[in-house]
Amino acid sequence: MTPEIVVFGSMNMDLVVRVARAPRGGETLHGLSFFTNPGGKGANQAVACARQGARVAMVGCVGEDDFGKTLRNALAADGIDVAHVRAAEASTGVAVVMVDAEGENRITIVPGANDLLKAEPEAIEGQFLLLQCEVPMTEMVLAARAMRAKGATVVMNPAPVCRLPDELWSLIDILVMNEIEAAELAGRPVADPAGAAAAAYSLRRRGPSTAIVTLGSQGVVVADEAGCRHFPALAVRVVDTTAAGDTFIGALCAARVAGHSMDAAVMRGIQAATLCVTRVGAQASIPRLQELEDVQQVASPSALACP
Ligand code: RIB
Repeated sequence: MTPEIVVFGSMNMDLVVRVARAPRGGETLHGLSFFTNPGGKGANQAVACARQGARVAMVGCVGEDDFGKTLRNALAADGIDVAHVRAAEASTGVAVVMVDAEGENRITIVPGANDLLKAEPEAIEGQFLLLQCEVPMTEMVLAARAMRAKGATVVMNPAPVCRLPDELWSLIDILVMNEIEAAELAGRPVADPAGAAAAAYSLRRRGPSTAIVTLGSQGVVVADEAGCRHFPALAVRVVDTTAAGDTFIGALCAARVAGHSMDAAVMRGIQAATLCVTRVGAQASIPRLQELEDVQQVASPSALACP
């Protein structure tokens, strides 16, 4: 069956160390625990879409090694179509993830096979295409061009922050970023909802009809043709922020595919991300749709000045 959502992106094995605090330069510290967990921004977003009820296909590249098999099997176990996950002569991508006592993460990725991912413009079909910045930019442009021409909505998550070529800007429908990415792309500080609205509004001029900034405990800001608005966050004890942004995006896209309004989809995204940060790991922490029934409702958005 044709997928509703195609994710063209990275697949990493996360090597996670929990620490009381990050070591300083030249310092050695004892970690609290270590575990491995399937991750990668692309694969995490695919899992989030699938667990929120969407039909998903992953286009990715892993190595011919045990990590690669584990990552592919993990996606398949979530019902994701992995026919376009290729195995290449390279190591599977890894991410070294350090999570401190506040749940804050610091991530270093070694792309490996992700750098060999090729677009398959003829082969992929779907209503939504999700992109991030952990695979080659030229291939992302090819994928976006092909899917957009077939009528798909292109969702771009510029993470880790990257320079987007003009053609890609013109192909993006929905841009979703955190405050660091928004500040970098817009070239202005983003410290609060007003700053996020200014950045999102300015980035819409480059192509996307909708720009969304996630601000962690300060909520989410959306700028689109209806104006700028702020959605509050839900208060929660944060254990690990890894994959919170991926979960937000996956839940948002699955809700849009299911026919929900943008505001309802953002609220769904906030609920899913809230649950995600209460759990450890990347794909291990991504909730299913039914689990959101027990999460508090997100308050209605308030209007923000669009500069
Ligand atoms: O967004 C979180 C992800 O970033 C991790 O799973 C890691 O693999 C990196 O891609």
